[in-house]
Amino acid sequence: MTPGMRILGIETSCDDTAVAVVDDGCRVRSNVVSSQLDHAAYGGVVPEIAARRHLDNLPTVLERALGEAGTDLGEIDGIAVTRGPGLIGALLAGWCFGRALARATATPWVGVHHLGAHVHGALMPALAEGRKVQWPLVALVVSGGHTSLYAVPGPGRFRALGQTRDDAAGEAFDKVASLLGLGYPGGPVIDRLAVDGDPEAYDLPRSDLGLDFTFSGLKTAVRRLALSEGLQPGRPEDPRVIDLVASFQAAAVDMLVETTRRALREVTAAGVVLAGGVAANSSLRRRFVDLAADEDVALLRSPPALSTDNAAMIAGAGHARLARGEVDSWSLAARATWPLAS
Ligand code: KG4
Ligand code: ZN
Repeated sequence: MTPGMRILGIETSCDDTAVAVVDDGCRVRSNVVSSQLDHAAYGGVVPEIAARRHLDNLPTVLERALGEAGTDLGEIDGIAVTRGPGLIGALLAGWCFGRALARATATPWVGVHHLGAHVHGALMPALAEGRKVQWPLVALVVSGGHTSLYAVPGPGRFRALGQTRDDAAGEAFDKVASLLGLGYPGGPVIDRLAVDGDPEAYDLPRSDLGLDFTFSGLKTAVRRLALSEGLQPGRPEDPRVIDLVASFQAAAVDMLVETTRRALREVTAAGVVLAGGVAANSSLRRRFVDLAADEDVALLRSPPALSTDNAAMIAGAGHARLARGEVDSWSLAARATWPLAS
């Protein structure tokens, strides 16, 4: 690790405009996320609106990130920008902004894989404490767009073990919240409501597809129950709604934990990584503590602010290449689709 290397990270792959300053790939000096509220009225992200808002937000989010870090562009040694995967218009806003900034300030820049950065984000607290990460790892990346398991033999190397065959887990949280009229994004709302519910009130299906996932059957079961119980949308105070979301969350978390357990028993791993926006879920976080203890592996995860989309993980993930002196070309293109595993 090159000491004292200060990286500016930029993330705009979906609906969060984020800029951060990170030292040495792990020490977060600032981590500013401006979440776009415009999408709530539509029940999901509208790509065109997301791209336009990023353009509006980026200059002020950059100023705040530099200000909170107590630094300025003259002290930035490298710029890391999310290259993909994501919504292409949204990506291009951050990509062009970062590239122009790099060009104008003659600063080295690199494009970063969003999912690889989620995994790096889960390692950052350990790295910042000076703890050595023991490889290989098994990583669960669980977000609004992805739900995948990877074998991670070393830094930045990924082999696919399994993935969702339909919805991503975060998408299932969002859709269940939406069908019950509880707002968007659904994950944090369900997490909060489920605390007061009975997770065993409703018997919901748990699938077993080896190292793959499926959430559509679970989502359909919730929809059927909502209909048969005659639940009205937008009634978070109804005890049946609270029990239903608690039962849904318990089933989703069971599937994520048990599939990761199967992966840990199939491949050699010294640690298990919990990464992505759904890694902010309080029940999933607790269950991973038990999983790591049961399977006798280290647990690598970050606090919620480094789990949901942010630019600190982008700066952290870009650090290794920038520290080696690598720079991306000015003509490199952003990528809407980009598999993580080679
Ligand atoms: O990683 P992320 O911020 O963006 C993507 O790359 O997709 O993940 C967003 C997803 C959303 O589906 C959101 O509902 C979910 O993460 N999420 C949660 C929680 N916080 C965010 N899901 C469950 N519990 C939470 N506390
Ligand atoms: Zn993400």
